[in-house]
Amino acid sequence: MSTRLLHIIATPRGLASNTGRVSSVLIEELHQKYDDLEVTTLDLFSADLPAVAGVNIKSKYALMTGQPVDEAATGSWQEIERTIEQFLAADLYVLTVPMWNFGIPYALKYYIDAIVQPGYLFTYNEQGQPVGLVEGKKMVCVTSRGGDYSQPPMSELDQVQSYLGSIFGFVGISDIEFFPVQPCDVTVELRNAAAKAAIADVRAWVATGAWDAQPAVSLAP
Ligand SMILES: Cc1cc2nc3c(=O)[nH]c(=O)nc-3n(C[C@H](O)[C@H](O)[C@H](O)COP(=O)(O)O)c2cc1C
Repeated sequence: MSTRLLHIIATPRGLASNTGRVSSVLIEELHQKYDDLEVTTLDLFSADLPAVAGVNIKSKYALMTGQPVDEAATGSWQEIERTIEQFLAADLYVLTVPMWNFGIPYALKYYIDAIVQPGYLFTYNEQGQPVGLVEGKKMVCVTSRGGDYSQPPMSELDQVQSYLGSIFGFVGISDIEFFPVQPCDVTVELRNAAAKAAIADVRAWVATGAWDAQPAVSLAP
């Protein structure tokens, strides 16, 4: 059984991407280390993501209160389900995420709003507490920033790492590694140095075997 990796790309910059410069090395290194790796790429800025509005928002609220999805809304809701299925079918995730106005790009927020649904990625226990349903998965987030947010006071403005850790931790993914690339937009020399340092960190991390390529337990039907 192969190990399935979903590479979620949240930059529209293609080959010019500062984040992609590092995450492409990560994917390459993982391919070399684990020959059973099967990579699916989800480019969020060219993906046709389902609406989190209209009938789908009604369905979401129905599900949140334990009601079934309205029959007329089933077809539309299936688009949300297909997006969720693709996410849940992966054992491992690599996220390529630049900082946009201190947070994540809107396309990634849109995707998260589409997949984080009650009964699929989380549920509530008898005490009414939320419980994550995504078990046994691992994630690496390569993030990049124009400035350097590694130290206070700039680090206090950085909502990328804290948000990604919170939302994916909420759904049950607690094994998350972050590789920041920064500063990327101060000078070309600093950008190259930041990429070089992050690539060295990524290579060292892959070499430790932190991802042992054991397929995780999949929740996909
Ligand atoms: C819409 C937008 C907003 C940005 N906001 C920030 C920001 O708040 N702080 C920062 O340091 N850089 C910011 N940047 C710069 C990017 O984070 C930086 O160039 C990053 O390396 C881009 O990654 P990419 O080349 O993979 O898209 C912004 C860039 C864009 C396009």
